[in-house]
Amino acid sequence: MSSLKQIRSSFLDYFAADGHAKVQSAPLVPQNDPTLLFVNAGMVPFKNVFTGQEKRPYTRATSAQKCVRAGGKHNDLDNVGYTARHHTFFEMMGNFSFGDYFKEHAIEAAWNLITKDFGIPKDRLMVTTYIDDDEAVELWKKIAGLPESRITRIAGSDNFWSMGDTGPCGPCTEIFYDHGDHIWGGPPGTPDEDGDRWVEIWNLVFMQFDQQADGSRSLLPRPSIDTGMGLERVAAVLQGVHSNYETDLFRTLIAASEHATNTSAEGDRAPSHRVIADHLRSSSFLIADGVTPSNEGRGYVLRRIMRRAMRHAHLLGAADPLMHRLVPTLVAEMGEAYPELRRAEAFITDTLKQEEIRFRTTLGRGMGLLEDASKDLGEGGVLSGQTAFTLYDTYGFPLDLTQDEARRRGFSVDTDAFDVAMNEQRSRSREHWTGSGQTASTAEWLALRDRLGATEFTGYDTTDGTGEVIAIVQDGASVDTLESGQTAEVLFDKTPFYGEGGGQAGDRGEIEWTDASGRQGAGTVLDVQKHAQDLFAHKIAVTSGTLAIGATVKLRVDADARLTTRANHSAAHLLHAALKNVLGPHVAQKGQMVDADRLRFDFSHNAPVTEDELARMEDEVNAVIRQNLPAATELMAPEKAIEAGAVALFGEKYGDEVRVLTLGHALNADKPYSVELCGGTHVARTGDIALFRITAETGIAAGVRRIEALTGEAARQHLLAQAGVAKGLAQTFKVQPLDVPARVEALTTDRKALEKQVAELKKQLALGGAEGAAVVVEEINGIKLIARVLDGVDGKGLRGVAEGFRTHVGSGVVALVGVTDGKAAITVAVTSDMTDRVNAANLARAAVIAMGGQGAGGKPDFAQGGAPDGSRAEDGLAAIRTALEG
Ligand code: ALA
Repeated sequence: MSSLKQIRSSFLDYFAADGHAKVQSAPLVPQNDPTLLFVNAGMVPFKNVFTGQEKRPYTRATSAQKCVRAGGKHNDLDNVGYTARHHTFFEMMGNFSFGDYFKEHAIEAAWNLITKDFGIPKDRLMVTTYIDDDEAVELWKKIAGLPESRITRIAGSDNFWSMGDTGPCGPCTEIFYDHGDHIWGGPPGTPDEDGDRWVEIWNLVFMQFDQQADGSRSLLPRPSIDTGMGLERVAAVLQGVHSNYETDLFRTLIAASEHATNTSAEGDRAPSHRVIADHLRSSSFLIADGVTPSNEGRGYVLRRIMRRAMRHAHLLGAADPLMHRLVPTLVAEMGEAYPELRRAEAFITDTLKQEEIRFRTTLGRGMGLLEDASKDLGEGGVLSGQTAFTLYDTYGFPLDLTQDEARRRGFSVDTDAFDVAMNEQRSRSREHWTGSGQTASTAEWLALRDRLGATEFTGYDTTDGTGEVIAIVQDGASVDTLESGQTAEVLFDKTPFYGEGGGQAGDRGEIEWTDASGRQGAGTVLDVQKHAQDLFAHKIAVTSGTLAIGATVKLRVDADARLTTRANHSAAHLLHAALKNVLGPHVAQKGQMVDADRLRFDFSHNAPVTEDELARMEDEVNAVIRQNLPAATELMAPEKAIEAGAVALFGEKYGDEVRVLTLGHALNADKPYSVELCGGTHVARTGDIALFRITAETGIAAGVRRIEALTGEAARQHLLAQAGVAKGLAQTFKVQPLDVPARVEALTTDRKALEKQVAELKKQLALGGAEGAAVVVEEINGIKLIARVLDGVDGKGLRGVAEGFRTHVGSGVVALVGVTDGKAAITVAVTSDMTDRVNAANLARAAVIAMGGQGAGGKPDFAQGGAPDGSRAEDGLAAIRTALEG
């Protein structure tokens, strides 16, 4: 059975082998898209690549993207828990072509993956296409050999996918899986299509248009592909279960919820456990991506999800807050694929706990409101839609709970009025989050940039400084103050903190200030991201005091981390130059990641880098480090820099002036060793890197390799660890470390000689008392027979033993069955004076057949054969005795 984890990686590996760059899931909060509440499909992070606004160094990509559908265009919240396959959070696996391949390759790749690699039987699959997409219909016939009856043309939005009210869109083709006739439901396009029998597992979108806000559509620069396969759905198919909630990950989460509530997920309680498991995932992932519960925008959607789960925890009888106790199980299951979950574990736990404590007070009040509103209603009365809506909206009571409660009291709910109130709220909340919320973030940042100007970065030469708070952005909206315990993005007029960019992580550190009334405040800088190109947004958690606009703040970057980050970044430049020198000028940088702990460099190259090449690059880089020449930084116009031989990166945006960094002197020519455009922070002299050590070389996509390396103290520790292993071996073998290889070689030779000796001894042991009395010689029909089973002696060994016994018996028959690895080998030898009476080959054959084998071969005086079942050795010998009795 394939686990979710395995399915996720096979999908990504499959497309990586087909030339797709593996791209990490983007955060759930859309980074540069004011039109969306949450990332709700795998294509969202690539939106601008489809429209041609953004260039990436690849034209094919694959990802497993975190998605939330709990608000906005794609909203599944109300269904979750009551169906087999709805989720608020799910992972969408996809492959993307940005003007590279189109329909044919997309269909072929999808079909091969699911039918060949995943082994889904073809007769359980059918597809839909857009009504007039004859081309897709023909391709399905040609590639998958599907008959017309399994290809359904659908008109309307089901087979025309769009990201939202605006953005890339196009006709699509969907692949459906039949869970079998024991489940109710019909194929797509039939009246029973809403049943759970036929489940869509993969949607392939032929992206061709860009939907504009005014309703018109423009063509994308080139036809492209976007696909989406729900990991949870396909896991259910591959694990042979019907409901996503029966797959491995959900079973584990539900088991944790059963344990924590001391209830079983059977019968009526099942939906509650499912809701808890699902909402635990969406809440935790949203919190990990910086959303916190609030009364507007994204924070409000999160609050509704959390409270819905909490109500179900309460329904299950949980006396204390429950959700936060399930976080460790979730982190254990998903923290490896999504390290952000691990990093934020404590924060997620605390946020869930506080919210549940708070909700438990409103839950009681909500029940109170329901009691009050019901007081005057008699049998057959109707609870107002507004009350039901208030219960839903403010107290987190879904309509069905209110209806259940009403029914118990003998009345019903005015659902029409509820729907009206609900629709009003929907349009209100839509207005809400275009005006505030993080949805407006790009616009908000651009407006801030216009108003406040660029942040001045002072950190090339220092890690300390002061800055004035000029903006605080919380949940996408500007606020004036930030209290202790709150987190927001803060802008200063100037800062020594580096904002993530060019593959260098944002700085972390501490801040301190004294407010107008003399009170001290402090906070932690968790990360720094750049917005609107040159605004440095410091993600700050205030730990004491209140931070307000206008405050003058002491800014202190974690200096140790900065030092190692600088060494790693400069070393990455040296490695880039070494790669070109050793592997050739075709090497192009495909990506880079440097932080305080290590460096990672991705580059184009079509074969694994050999040990020898790696050693040469490591030697070169270390030689340049030892030159200990000053690093030279110059500011110039981009064109001038490129003319001067600087390596520029495709896809990076450069401003009016660029920094050009020169490191070291070429080893065999009179020119600098490395010249690159770079805005990152670097060493003062190459010697500051101290030591460079490559730790891994791997392939990450077709034609793209990755090198991981360490510098300075981390490199030294790595070498020490390796030397430690050699030292340990030397002690075990009692030799000098450098003599370990010779010692291992000698041991291997000794071992071979010993193996030979053991074989010889086994043979002699088998012969037993060939010279003594221990060998039993039977006599059948006047023919002498030595018949023995020899454990551990194979066919080859038997031959020698049989020769020995033949001499011993003088005149007669030797029959030996050797048993090795549970199998039998038989050897029969007949002395030459007896071959006119008995035939060795016939006897061997009789024995083999008695042992369940096929036959044997040989001559009248010597024959051999084999049989699969060594436990029947005695049967073989018995057959020979019977044959001799004759
Ligand atoms: N973007 C498409 C979807 O979400 C693949 O279904």
